[in-house]
Amino acid sequence: MIIGSRDAQKAQNVVAELKPKMRAGELVGMTNQEAVKQGEFVVIAVPYEGQAQMIEDLKGQLAGKIVIDTVVPLQKGKPFVPPAGSALLEAQTILGDEAPVIGALHNISAVDLGDVDSHLGDVLVCGDNETAKQKVMEVIRRIGARTFDAGPAANAYVIEGLTGVIIHLNKKHKSKHGSIRITGIGD
Ligand SMILES: NC(=O)c1ccc[n+]([C@@H]2O[C@H](COP(=O)([O-])OP(=O)(O)OC[C@H]3O[C@@H](n4cnc5c(N)ncnc54)[C@H](OP(=O)(O)O)[C@@H]3O)[C@@H](O)[C@H]2O)c1
Repeated sequence: MIIGSRDAQKAQNVVAELKPKMRAGELVGMTNQEAVKQGEFVVIAVPYEGQAQMIEDLKGQLAGKIVIDTVVPLQKGKPFVPPAGSALLEAQTILGDEAPVIGALHNISAVDLGDVDSHLGDVLVCGDNETAKQKVMEVIRRIGARTFDAGPAANAYVIEGLTGVIIHLNKKHKSKHGSIRITGIGD
């Protein structure tokens, strides 16, 4: 696995922090530009304000990759729907046919993702490329979460916005672990 950053040294510092917590696999750190040259999946996990520029900068290097978009449009912790309809649709518009963008992991807290012992909530996965969506679901299942095909890219604004509700619940209940669970399906 590769951690990308705008600053290679920062990526390497994060790797040094994470490595002792890992049970298996390799982890290396490098710039975003270098990181996207390798691997099949590219995870976009930056604040919404930085997403468009970041994808513009990486455009041309993402052909043949699957982009996993975790970005939630937030303003002062509150969700909003951006002009493109969602962060995912904005990313896909910038990339065009170069690479499919699949939305996932919006409703899982970074604290839980960083703890190999935590029980992860369910992950709603959406996007318009069915093959890419199935591959992303398979990858996320490997980290121990149940995944659900949550439909087309047009559904992304709902899943992104739901994170705003989870942030509210976390604040109200002084938690860092709020997530969602789908019941009545696949139980
Ligand atoms: N945190 C959560 O629990 C959680 C849960 C669900 C979804 N999300 C979503 O996931 C995304 C990342 O969340 P986060 O909490 O990890 O955010 P964050 O800590 O604020 O940012 C993550 C990284 O993005 C890079 N970054 C910051 N501003 C940038 C910019 N303008 N352009 C390009 N890169 C930039 C920085 O890395 P470098 O300085 O190393 O480049 C930073 O360490 C957000 O869209 C958030 O809404 C977060």
